[in-house]
Amino acid sequence: MIPPALELDAVHAGYGDIDVLHGVDLAVAPGEVVALLGPNGAGKTTTLAVASGQIRPRSGVVRMVGHDVTGTPADALARAGVCLIPEGRGIFPNLTVRENLRMVTYSGPSWAEVEERAYARFPRLGERRNQLAGTLSGGEQQMLAMSRALATEPALLLLDELSMGLAPLIVEDLYQRVAELAAEGLSILIVEQFAQAVLGVADRAAVMLQGRIRRIGPPDEIADQLAATYLGG
Ligand SMILES: Nc1ncnc2c1ncn2[C@@H]1O[C@H](COP(=O)(O)OP(=O)(O)O)[C@@H](O)[C@H]1O
Ligand SMILES: [Mg+2]
Repeated sequence: MIPPALELDAVHAGYGDIDVLHGVDLAVAPGEVVALLGPNGAGKTTTLAVASGQIRPRSGVVRMVGHDVTGTPADALARAGVCLIPEGRGIFPNLTVRENLRMVTYSGPSWAEVEERAYARFPRLGERRNQLAGTLSGGEQQMLAMSRALATEPALLLLDELSMGLAPLIVEDLYQRVAELAAEGLSILIVEQFAQAVLGVADRAAVMLQGRIRRIGPPDEIADQLAATYLGG
């Protein structure tokens, strides 16, 4: 059996004296798309910070492909194939599309190849290659963020609130791209507050409340639960 791409086992983590995650168990199988849903402040971004090595858990274990990587720094995990697209997308607004693609630190393909692949996947980026990233639409910025992430040829993609501030049709289109990436074998953990579109591409969905995973299962079952949760049930 192939071990999970990512596994959090009884993870407790927080900031300073404040505990945010109170024993999180979560696994992403190879090529699987897992959606982590929950209200603002639930601890979703903190979970991604632990998974990407930005925060060291107070206790518990983080494993990647069966290896204990608890406490491994973010740069080392990035080299090992972990890529985080943060909330707000992490692009450089004052650089052009092309410059953003060339700024990626990677050891694989040449920048020409990176650009070529980005424009093949997202022709709109090619048309706007000399435009400042800060002047792109929100959807185009997310395409750029995804292209930068893919340039590093990651094994595990962590996506924080892909849909934030975007129109539903654009979100749906981006999620189709996410589904394609998973079909190519990428393992993906996506955080959203609540986005119907993510349930269409996720293999499993988890609901996080107050630093704990309350439910995990097939997306359609979770959708019903979420409705109840958001109504205060
Ligand atoms: N850098 C930080 N320092 C202190 N507290 C933080 C920090 N980041 C997040 N928190 C707190 O941790 C809790 C969970 O935040 P977060 O993981 O960002 O939730 P979510 O992404 O689900 O909205 C919140 O109460 C938030 O205020
Ligand atoms: Mg968040």
